Amino acid sequence: MTVKIIALMGSPLPEGNTGKLLEEATRGAKDAGCSVARVNVCDLSFSGCMEYYYCEKNDSCYINDEFSPFLQRFKNMDGLIIATPVMTMGVPGQLKSFMDRFQVYFMAKYKRNQPLITKEQKKWRRTLLLSIGGMNIKNDFDGIKLTTESFCDIIDCPYYDGVFQNNMDEVKDITTRTDIMEAAYNKSFRMCSEITENKEKYS
Ligand SMILES: Cc1cc2nc3c(=O)[nH]c(=O)nc-3n(C[C@H](O)[C@H](O)[C@H](O)COP(=O)(O)O)c2cc1C
Repeated sequence: MTVKIIALMGSPLPEGNTGKLLEEATRGAKDAGCSVARVNVCDLSFSGCMEYYYCEKNDSCYINDEFSPFLQRFKNMDGLIIATPVMTMGVPGQLKSFMDRFQVYFMAKYKRNQPLITKEQKKWRRTLLLSIGGMNIKNDFDGIKLTTESFCDIIDCPYYDGVFQNNMDEVKDITTRTDIMEAAYNKSFRMCSEITENKEKYS
C-alpha cells in the first residue's frame, strides 16, 4: 500500500530556510515509509481565482492552467506538509492563490453537499504546517494559522500539528536551531506513521 504525501513549498527560494525545514519533514515522512512529492508553488504558472463560479455547479474549474492537475492530485493524496514563510503577516501571494483555487472543493462540500473526499479518506488524511518568520513579534503566525486551518477544512485534510520559528532575521540559518529541525522530522514521522496505520485500518 502506497501512502502519498504532498510537500507543498510556499517560499520562492527552494534552498532557503523554509526549504531546509521542509527537507527535514520530508526525511521524516520517507522514514515512515511514505512517498513524498514536492510541489514548489512559485515554479507554477497559474491564475488566482477569478470568481467565474463555474465550480458552483461543476467539480472542476473554468480556468485551465498549471494549477488544474492539482485538483485531482489533492484528491488522491493521503497527507500534506505545507512549508511557508510569513509574508506581510500571512502566506505568500502565490501560495494563497494556489489555496484559493480549491474553491472547487468548497463548493462541492458546502454548496452541493457532495464532498470530493470520501468519509474513509477523512479518517486518515492529515496536514502538518511548517512556518518561519523574520520578525520577533507576537502573533506572527496568526494569519498563517487561520488560512491553513480554513484550507485544511476545505480540502478535508485536517490540521494535525505545526512547527514555528519566528525571529529568523537573527537566527539566520534554521539548521542552527536543532530543536526546530528535530521537531519537523519527528512531527512528520509521527503524522505519516499515523496516516499509514489509519489507511491500513480503514481502506
Ligand atoms: C515580501 C516579504 C514580506 C515579509 N513579511 C514578513 C512578516 O510579515 N512577518 C515576518 O515575521 N517576516 C516577514 N518576512 C520575512 C520572512 O518571513 C523571512 O525572511 C523568512 O525567513 C524567509 O524564509 P525563506 O528564505 O525560506 O523564504 C517577509 C519577507 C518578505 C520577502
